[in-house]
Amino acid sequence: MIIAVTGATGPFGRHAIEALIRRGQPAGQIVAIGRDQAKLDGLSELGVTVRRADYDDPDSLRAALAGVDRLLFVSGSEVGQRIAQHRAVVDAARAAGIGLVVYTSIPKADRSDMVLAAEHRATEQALIASGLPYVFLRNGWYLENYTAQLPVALEHGLIGAAGEGRISAATRADLAEAAAAAVAGPGPGNRVYELGGPAFTLAELAAEITRQSGRQVGYTDLSEDGYAKALVEAGLPAEMAAVLADSDRAAAQGALYVEGDDLERLLGRPATPWREVLGSALAALN
Ligand SMILES: NC(=O)c1ccc[n+]([C@@H]2O[C@H](COP(=O)([O-])OP(=O)(O)OC[C@H]3O[C@@H](n4cnc5c(N)ncnc54)[C@H](OP(=O)(O)O)[C@@H]3O)[C@@H](O)[C@H]2O)c1
Repeated sequence: MIIAVTGATGPFGRHAIEALIRRGQPAGQIVAIGRDQAKLDGLSELGVTVRRADYDDPDSLRAALAGVDRLLFVSGSEVGQRIAQHRAVVDAARAAGIGLVVYTSIPKADRSDMVLAAEHRATEQALIASGLPYVFLRNGWYLENYTAQLPVALEHGLIGAAGEGRISAATRADLAEAAAAAVAGPGPGNRVYELGGPAFTLAELAAEITRQSGRQVGYTDLSEDGYAKALVEAGLPAEMAAVLADSDRAAAQGALYVEGDDLERLLGRPATPWREVLGSALAALN
């Protein structure tokens, strides 16, 4: 069974390929798809077949998906471009007669009012309309979204606009391992998984950073506008700042809170505890 992974050159895709190999999927029956040949060359060391394709180039997608049995379709990163890009992937998957498409989506994609959810919802709808067997992995926030900010948080405190919203974050590696389980696991069937780890508020995150680091780190909750402005002042492009502030606004209302144990069930074990992940990230800073 040939399993292809798009977005293979990103960290999520690489984790997923490594998890597939750990599960026993022969590397020679994995096709890693990305648009950057140099990054693809780096993946060849895993023994996988690499194929170049761009979400903006339907012909390249059709060629890359030829002969593929199942596809782990990792969502692209070009916010605003993804409806057309993702439709091109779905069309190519249909042309290739792929037996199962596993797509990385966002929590509650069918009803979330988060700006980021719109492209995921459109992709889910395109997959449903395609008639291809699908699995939607509605991935919660990566814990790395927070651990990557630790140096700034330790220096200036944590800021956001998520209020008391609980956030069911999980590591990229756990979500990617779950994706490998979904794409390599038992036969096709249309399924929707809401995936996240144990939830925390940003105030709880700040308190835990304080506890583990010994440095006082507070959480300052800003308005959506105030947070967007702070992100722009920190150097982010205005469009990205607006999307991140909107995500926090929605998180305050529960958009990133995931109920149930879908992640545990796909992993066959509990998700890596967020406090442990925080501890490792803090240790890596020293
Ligand atoms: N849950 C979360 O917290 C969270 C956070 C960030 C992103 N995400 C989503 O999860 C996905 C995977 O995460 P990640 O951390 O691995 O993100 P990433 O590093 O941004 O990887 C995105 C992948 O998509 C590929 N890609 C983007 N545009 C493409 C195009 N036009 N044609 C072909 N490939 C294209 C990238 O290729 P290049 O290597 O050439 O850029 C890369 O392989 C992201 O793309 C995004 O949709 C989720």
